[in-house]
Amino acid sequence: MTSSPDAARAEDTTPSGSSTPRLRPPCERLSGCQKSGVCSRSYFWVVMVFFHLYIFNVIALLFYVHYSSGQEDPNRSRDAPSGGRADSPRPPSGGEFLRDVSLTRVDGIRVGHVQKVSLVPGKVHEMRTLSLKPLLFEIPGFLSDDECRVVMQLAQLKGLMESQLMVQDGQEELAKELNLSAEEIFNLLDINQDGQLQLREILTHSRVRDGIWLTPENLREIYAGLKADKNNDGLLSLKEFRLLSSDAFQHFLLQRGVKRSQLVRNSRHTWLYQGQGAHQVLQDIKERVTRLTRLPPTLVDLSEPLQVVHYEEGGHYHAHRDSGPVYPETACTHTLLAANTSTPFETSCRYITVLFYLNTVQGGGETAFPVADNRTYDEMSLIQNDVDLLDTRRNCDKSNLRVRPTKGTAVFWYNYLSDGKGWVGEQDEYSLHGGCVVTHGTKWVANKWINVDPDYQRQARYQQLVSQLPQDESDEAPAPNADTQHSSVHQEL
Ligand code: OGA
Ligand code: CA
Ligand code: FE2
Repeated sequence: MTSSPDAARAEDTTPSGSSTPRLRPPCERLSGCQKSGVCSRSYFWVVMVFFHLYIFNVIALLFYVHYSSGQEDPNRSRDAPSGGRADSPRPPSGGEFLRDVSLTRVDGIRVGHVQKVSLVPGKVHEMRTLSLKPLLFEIPGFLSDDECRVVMQLAQLKGLMESQLMVQDGQEELAKELNLSAEEIFNLLDINQDGQLQLREILTHSRVRDGIWLTPENLREIYAGLKADKNNDGLLSLKEFRLLSSDAFQHFLLQRGVKRSQLVRNSRHTWLYQGQGAHQVLQDIKERVTRLTRLPPTLVDLSEPLQVVHYEEGGHYHAHRDSGPVYPETACTHTLLAANTSTPFETSCRYITVLFYLNTVQGGGETAFPVADNRTYDEMSLIQNDVDLLDTRRNCDKSNLRVRPTKGTAVFWYNYLSDGKGWVGEQDEYSLHGGCVVTHGTKWVANKWINVDPDYQRQARYQQLVSQLPQDESDEAPAPNADTQHSSVHQEL
């Protein structure tokens, strides 16, 4: 039957209860029902059900796209949660805030994609996507030469302090502090549980202790100095480990003398207030950052001041993340005021980092992103065959991505993923980055961090509290990480 062209045509035809004998509805042919009226009614119902299901699916899809894209609804306030919008719903009396703000996340499209952005009147900037993991962009000419000069001069006028103080010995021994036995510590360090401590197992956990950066070489030197690895196989057995005190490595290095180059970071920095009354250049930069990130202005206003960093020749900053992971117990430094809890997990909750290059570095000093756009992220594979990818004094050339410091260029990236509902989600583990060693000349950068609490309620409560303070006090939050002796003076400029 299907081989006949006529039959084929008949099957293609829409059933309609037509009186043409050759074009009978399929139900008639299949079920042998008698009345074509009943058949067309049941067909009608089937079609209607499918039609409704289809419409329902389309609507559901539209909702999904709308809420998962994190794009800001133009009808919504560009202002912060609970703050400042005339038509925003009043917070319910229980102190809960309705979610009426979502955070824009700039779309990276693909690596190499360039989008034009309007940040200052009469000028168009180009923003290039450098990576998607982390979501990272570069904007050449974000700051003018004059602005770069003013920021460096203001920082010098204010005075810079060591970013990391030299380590002091004589702290309480780690094992005593933690109340753990040597066996317990050994077991925690022995990641692959083979009963031996490989170099990389020690380094993964103890690369940084008291601000000193351990390399495979100085670990070997320590083994030799302490005669720790008796059989010289490069591994520590439990027996060998037991003979060492828990801070023997640190103690050894301190005895031998620690150089600045052996610290996690080797730079000086200061903080510049950007609120009302601050130098116009600093206020302009804040305003431009708000336009660039498309975040509510209040969020940017309430973020940390501008951090200006100066690296001398030989300066570096080993790879790190600017903000910590989010656990249910994590509190953010900037919203502690609203958290009314205490927790051992406190972090600065820097949703975005905007990094500005204030000069063009003659040699080295790139910002490296060791695992940018890696297919996977694996903590252990950061150290392989004595190559530590986080070591920016030695292994920047093996980083997946490096940005050359060029005067006026800004880069910015997200330290957290989206939660899929328009707010901050988990920490982006790919956001690891560091400053490569400066080989020629010096390097000046500035950081603008935008602080957002992943807990929407806490961010909203915090903003509510700050908005009740007198204007000059609420103008800019205190610098969460600004060292105390300087945070009190950052409003002088
Ligand atoms: C920082 C930082 C990178 C650089 O200051 O947190 O990562 O290139 N700086 O200086
Ligand atoms: Ca092991
Ligand atoms: Fe950083």
